[in-house]
Amino acid sequence: MKLAVVGGGSTYTPELVDGFARLRDTLPVSELVLIDPATDRLEPVGRLARRIFAREGHSARITTTADLDAGVEGADAVLLQLRVGGQEARAEDEAWPLECGCVGQETTGAGGLAKALRTVPVVLDIAERVRHRSPNAWIIDFTNPVGIVTRALLRAGHRAVGLCNVAIHLQRKFAGLLNVDPEQVHLDHYGLNHLTWELGVRLGGPGGPDVLPQLLGEHGPRIAEELHLPFPVLDRLGVVPSYYLRYYYAHDDVVDEMRTKPSRASEVAAMEERLLRMYADPALDRKPELLAKRGGAFYSEAAVALAAALLGGRTTPASTEPGQSGTGAAGGAVQVVNTVNNGTLPFLPDDAVVEVPALVTAGGARPLPAPDLDPLYAGLVTHVTGYEDLALEAALHGGRNRVFKALLAHPLIGQYTLAEELTDRLLAHNREHLGWL
Ligand code: G6P
Ligand code: MN
Repeated sequence: MKLAVVGGGSTYTPELVDGFARLRDTLPVSELVLIDPATDRLEPVGRLARRIFAREGHSARITTTADLDAGVEGADAVLLQLRVGGQEARAEDEAWPLECGCVGQETTGAGGLAKALRTVPVVLDIAERVRHRSPNAWIIDFTNPVGIVTRALLRAGHRAVGLCNVAIHLQRKFAGLLNVDPEQVHLDHYGLNHLTWELGVRLGGPGGPDVLPQLLGEHGPRIAEELHLPFPVLDRLGVVPSYYLRYYYAHDDVVDEMRTKPSRASEVAAMEERLLRMYADPALDRKPELLAKRGGAFYSEAAVALAAALLGGRTTPASTEPGQSGTGAAGGAVQVVNTVNNGTLPFLPDDAVVEVPALVTAGGARPLPAPDLDPLYAGLVTHVTGYEDLALEAALHGGRNRVFKALLAHPLIGQYTLAEELTDRLLAHNREHLGWL
């Protein structure tokens, strides 16, 4: 099985490689290609990746290349984990919205729109080239903003599934609190990427008993603290929102905090410098502890599980019964992914992309039937879906007015003068990345 990683020079790559090595019985990778135009990062990351495989006794071949077309040739799956404009562009996304009193965040609000505008055309170009070289390859998109990027990919007819680690992170967290195996924990996880709520936490599988009330009763304050959300929010609602909901439920407090603290972009940039120095050390043959301080924990487990389920028919690992939570192969596995709505959340358009539990097989991701969503969640999800639709229009077709409309539609913006000010800043800060400007 051949896997290609676009953005292979990312400091996250050792996380992924560590997962491929540890979970090789689930996903028998024989060839891994790391693709990245930034060869100064790619080469040391590639050498570390080889040392990790060697230490784990994994015999797969790892190659590195800046040539996308050659790299994806014959791949069974292509993982996208790129960041157009790098951490520098992210730093800007986090800065200029704050000047207008809005949250400065790489996927939420105005900064997220800037990222979508830079990213969608690049990802669509890559996907076209993948389709040309490897028409049967699955595209696993970890590139943010995952909801909008996945929608762009699916609309263009690509075989794509979007992935985020928020769900698997909570699954692991809850399993630890419940003292059970993570595979035993099924999340009733509903919404859009970076806009989700755990409406239930079921033991043993999708039909199992809901232990969320018990979890909140016994560990509520601790869970809230880790999500940087006030405990009364979890307590009153009886659900666990993802930590991205703090940008909505505590918007003004977060803005105040962001104005005084160093940005996440600057923290990550400093961490990346240290990580790259570590990676260059020929004695290092495992992923360093420092990587755990990045937001992508368990990304590799989620990616391995998804690739194993999508490629199940192409390999022969032990099969898993449909409906069972966790990793699996030919029979499929239930996993939280970003995929086309098709009536799952009946109040959204069919072609919206939702983040929900789905049965993933070689045929793709099919969402499980969803519960009715309380208007408290359905309302915000509908609102943000409208924004995502307009964001995608702006990313595909460009134009100041499309950017303005997407910003005006965002529930955290909504006011005419604010949307104007943000539009000006977004365009000024992204000139070199937006071909239509
Ligand atoms: C979480 C999100 C990812 C995001 C990451 C940021 O993992 O699910 O979508 O990219 O956090 O982490 P960072 O360390 O770059 O702030
Ligand atoms: Mn994510």
